[in-house]
Amino acid sequence: MVKNVAAELGFPAYVVGGYVRDRLLRRPSKDMDIVCVGDGIKLAKELANKMSPRPKVTVYGRFGTAMLKYQDLEVEFVGARKESYTRDSRKPSVMTGTLEDDQNRRDFTINALAVSLNESNFGEIIDPFGGLRHLEEKLIKTPLEPGRTFSDDPLRMMRGIRFATQLGFEIEQETFDAINQYKERIRIVSQERITTELNKIIVAKEPSIGFKLLLKSELLQLIFPEMAALEGVEVKNGKAHKDNFYHTLEVLENLGKNTRDLWMRWSAILHDIAKPPTKRFDTKIGWTFHGHEALGAAMVPRIFKKLKLPLDGNMKFVQKLVRLHLRPISLTKENITDSAIRRLLFDAGEDIDDLMMLCEADITSKNPKKVQRYLANYRLVREKLDEIEEKDRIRNWQPPITGELIMETFDLKPSRVVGEIKTAIREAILDGDISNEYQEAFSLMLKKGQELGLTKAS
Ligand code: CTP
Repeated sequence: MVKNVAAELGFPAYVVGGYVRDRLLRRPSKDMDIVCVGDGIKLAKELANKMSPRPKVTVYGRFGTAMLKYQDLEVEFVGARKESYTRDSRKPSVMTGTLEDDQNRRDFTINALAVSLNESNFGEIIDPFGGLRHLEEKLIKTPLEPGRTFSDDPLRMMRGIRFATQLGFEIEQETFDAINQYKERIRIVSQERITTELNKIIVAKEPSIGFKLLLKSELLQLIFPEMAALEGVEVKNGKAHKDNFYHTLEVLENLGKNTRDLWMRWSAILHDIAKPPTKRFDTKIGWTFHGHEALGAAMVPRIFKKLKLPLDGNMKFVQKLVRLHLRPISLTKENITDSAIRRLLFDAGEDIDDLMMLCEADITSKNPKKVQRYLANYRLVREKLDEIEEKDRIRNWQPPITGELIMETFDLKPSRVVGEIKTAIREAILDGDISNEYQEAFSLMLKKGQELGLTKAS
């Protein structure tokens, strides 16, 4: 149908970019870009008129583009451009050009393929830069001299690494060298666009490919220095610590086998993030990273803010996992009390299973015997957690005495002492000093109140 309408209007049209690439790679694709050498908006409207039911056409006047939905596909129409083609660039350029101009201005050869929708050569693939061959060879390469392509839109350096990660492709040497050379230009790109690419790398099947490329190109040092700082091994008195960058990537890969959840994966990335600033050398025990879980948890909101990630429940979730990631290890020791188990159940709440999943992914020993032993220890911890949860129902637990009741009993306004009494009751129950029941908790409340010099309201 596009063929007929384009012919009627008298301008040629082509499918270009990601849709063509994904079709050739047999990957699913949600949007299709149609470039026409003429007025894209007019083409979209005329086409819609011929369809039944007539789809709604959304016109983006500022960008000179139009979009319509066809089945599950979002189809975008745009006139061929001479200047840089970046869909979300702030300064849209509207210089009209030929198909060749348009292809010249795209990011990678595999994204510059066009399929003709015209009568004379319908279905023909127009491939001026060897994109088809690069799809075969699994290669990411810019169509023009890479410095030029990256200067047009420096986000493309991140996109190149993202495509290499998603598709399992190599980045051609000259293109990669240019990423390293032009890395500083990433600073002019908005944080939102950078983070979108970073998140796409993180949820890919093998995110470590992307992080290794980011580190090697030195982009990581600019966009996420805290993570780059994990790299390296220091040796003192013949003692070395592990390389925390590669360890983190292993944890991320291990975890990735069990979940595609972005925030779980962020918790893997950040679990050891405070190891560099907490690193000390102790002549007796060697390298230590005391308190890295607490400092790491404190770093999470700062990092989220800087990366413009949401500062919502997802951030709190990541922060909680970072803060608690050493706790299950301490429960693998012998003679663990029920109260230690109850405490972890209380602190982790609903997220206890995710925490255990992170801890299991955190086992990266090269010695298979050790791995088996650690996993067996965690199986025991899981059993104990199940046992205590079955008995005491701590996961969604709220202590039997509420703040309101405390205020009512002692005729108090909301204040610090209310919190103090609440905490004392909670701690006593978690420690097993009193049972998790109203009567005993009520008695303890009265006792605490008395100790604090409060009198019972009449
Ligand atoms: N493009 C570009 N430079 C950019 C962004 C996009 O040259 N910075 C071009 C590429 O030809 C790309 C097309 O615009 O194929 C569509 O861009 P987009 O939808 O962002 O990416 P896709 O390639 O479709 O891939 P994905 O959907 O995975 O992001």
